[in-house]
Amino acid sequence: EDESLMVKRPPVVCVMGHVDHGKTSLLDAIRNSNVTGREAGGITQHIGASVVEINGEKITFLDTPGHEAFTAMRMRGANSTDIAILVVAADDGVMPQTIEAINHAKAAGIEIIVAINKIDKPSANVERVKQELTEYELIPEDWGGSTIFVPVSAHTHEGIQDLLEMILLTAEVMELKANPNRAARGLVIEAELDKGKGSVATVLVQKGTLHVGDAIAAGSAHGRVRAMMDDKGRRVKEAGPSQPVEILGLNDVPNAGEVFVGCESDKEARAFAETFISQNKVKLLEETKSKMSLDDLF
Ligand code: GTP
Ligand code: NA
Ligand code: MG
Repeated sequence: EDESLMVKRPPVVCVMGHVDHGKTSLLDAIRNSNVTGREAGGITQHIGASVVEINGEKITFLDTPGHEAFTAMRMRGANSTDIAILVVAADDGVMPQTIEAINHAKAAGIEIIVAINKIDKPSANVERVKQELTEYELIPEDWGGSTIFVPVSAHTHEGIQDLLEMILLTAEVMELKANPNRAARGLVIEAELDKGKGSVATVLVQKGTLHVGDAIAAGSAHGRVRAMMDDKGRRVKEAGPSQPVEILGLNDVPNAGEVFVGCESDKEARAFAETFISQNKVKLLEETKSKMSLDDLF
């Protein structure tokens, strides 16, 4: 794609780690540190993703639902995440799912930032966690490596600001870019059938801009975007790269991880959905776990 059309986009971040090491608590702490969120009334609408603003820059967090974090990440595809926050409890250290998370992130080519959580606990041992992770080639900068480690407490909020700043710094180095001036393309984060609203899908726009009124196809579903809502529950008219939005207007419920594309016309959207049904190319992508870009597929 033409480099001159690309502009900076926010990083898309997921939180991974062993059971009970504090993934959900950390995400909650991060959301509560978000002044914009507080001003909007405190409770962030759950749409499977949230946007946090720090120093005028945005970060998109994908929610990791409980023990399904790994499956969810696979479902959403390697293409959805730029940075993984690996949460390791300072009192517990490296555990089986910590290792699983490292392997998944590495296989997907995702940048890892280590958040050593629960440092408020008397039994916390940050140095031990650092030592344990060297076995998996995650070596702190002050030990001559290149991995960022941030000691945090989801309970006291110590280190949360540092963690957010480190995410932005990492994103800066990655030079994440996308062209906002093209048809939208991205991934379905989650979707469900609502009795009143019909098909409700949360999508992550990866490139281009999605507008209310656009014809789109998402997996086997198609339709026109009737309404869009951001992660704070506010109605929006458009969504650009790295922005998660809830959309209404699809004729069916797509699956998490499926691709959505903005189309020229209803006809094109329907044709796209039909092609999807007959060929199921995204499934192929997941099965081969190849690192083909979405452009290679469609
Ligand atoms: P699963 O989704 O079940 O894998 O767990 P999780 O990783 O999301 O952990 P969760 O946020 O549910 O936290 C697990 C337990 O650890 C809860 O009892 C939290 O209150 C506690 N916890 C989380 N973060 C901290 C922390 O920073 N300090 C202390 N002391 N406890 C914490
Ligand atoms: Na838990
Ligand atoms: Mg959880």
